Amino acid sequence: MNARVTRPIRIGLLGAGVVGEGILQVLSDHAGSIERRMGTAIEVRRVVARDSGKPRSPRCEGLLSFDPDDVLADPEIDVVVEVMGGLEPAGDYVRRAIEAGKSVVTANKALLAEHGHALIELSEERGVDLYFEAAVAGGIPVIRVLREALASDTVVALRGIVNGTSNYILSEMKERGLDFAEALSGAQAAGYAEADPTLDVGGGDATHKLAILAMLAFGAQLRPEDIPTEGISDVAALDIQMAARFGYVIKPLAVGAELPDGSLDLRVHPALVPDSSVLASISGALNVVVLEGKMLGPCLLSGYGAGALPTAMSVVSDIVDVGRNLVVGASGRVPQRAWRGEHLSKRAVAAPGRHVCRWYLRFSVLDRPGVLARIAGVLGAFDVSIEQMLQQGRGPDSDEPVHVVMLTHEAREVDVRHALREIEMLRGMVARARALRIES
Ligand code: HSE
Repeated sequence: MNARVTRPIRIGLLGAGVVGEGILQVLSDHAGSIERRMGTAIEVRRVVARDSGKPRSPRCEGLLSFDPDDVLADPEIDVVVEVMGGLEPAGDYVRRAIEAGKSVVTANKALLAEHGHALIELSEERGVDLYFEAAVAGGIPVIRVLREALASDTVVALRGIVNGTSNYILSEMKERGLDFAEALSGAQAAGYAEADPTLDVGGGDATHKLAILAMLAFGAQLRPEDIPTEGISDVAALDIQMAARFGYVIKPLAVGAELPDGSLDLRVHPALVPDSSVLASISGALNVVVLEGKMLGPCLLSGYGAGALPTAMSVVSDIVDVGRNLVVGASGRVPQRAWRGEHLSKRAVAAPGRHVCRWYLRFSVLDRPGVLARIAGVLGAFDVSIEQMLQQGRGPDSDEPVHVVMLTHEAREVDVRHALREIEMLRGMVARARALRIES
């Protein structure tokens, strides 16, 4: 039992960007209701920013510092809130805070995906809390649901859209006919994208989040680099239009399921989903996570996965949780990883080639006799069966490439990839084939 804290909970903020400012707003606008729920107030002692040249909100007045030691070495601070992002120096600061006996709240999914197990073990040893609700799907309380509400169930599968930037880009490309670059600029202007947007559009951000979800849902210890990942930057406006002609929408998915042999099917990639499905209806910067519990059945959680106030609300809810523990002199009642440490295990991720699904294939070809027959022949030789097909007509110029789109029946990924490699070497092919999974 730790000593009970009866005075206000004192926090130090590392990061004064849009989320940092959002946290100050939530703490100030909801100060009264937070105190009534928690039993004491939250007092912000210091806000540490990195860049002294940037203008700051008046909320930072009298709190601003550029020296992290003003937070890490202040013995009066109970909770360090890390919203700087990136692996370092954030990782070093979080480690130092825990070693100094402070609880930590962080929204840093990259840090948790890469070093979360070590940091959580350190916090357990030190008897402090490390909470991270805002690290996955921003404002959506999915971590609490997995950690607490589903503690009596078995999660058999999860499927989500967990990168708001990618969802925003694909939605804008579809709804407003924008090209990729225009839609990415819009996402950056709206504050959804990471400082380095390749983490968003390359799928890395979703992979970090999926690694955290797999830890909570399946008790899996994995490295994010074990998760097969494809970003959205190769999705062309043409694919979005073609998918629509077949009744599908292209969405940036993160998928996880436990396979009968105990390995995990984990994947991050864009995929076609039926336009009547729930996943298709989650547009713009909205996120969604659909959990499938053995007892519960499906459970859908949707909301804003990015943006200052939804993310700040999540961070502050963690500060309230830590504060509640401090008020009663406790920590570690609910395992931060949802499972007690000794029951987490390293789990194999199924090789992507084993995955079986229907496929969307697009070929750019010269419109010559026999081209289609040759493509179909190679697909057949690899056991990939065509279900539907569409060829775009061309103008009078017979050297103008045409697009041929095929939807296949279920096929193993390894067979599809081998077939595509052979097809790309056929006479009449003018560009690399595009392949997207169809998620039923
Ligand atoms: N860049 C992230 C996204 C922000 O677009 O979802 C929240 O993690």
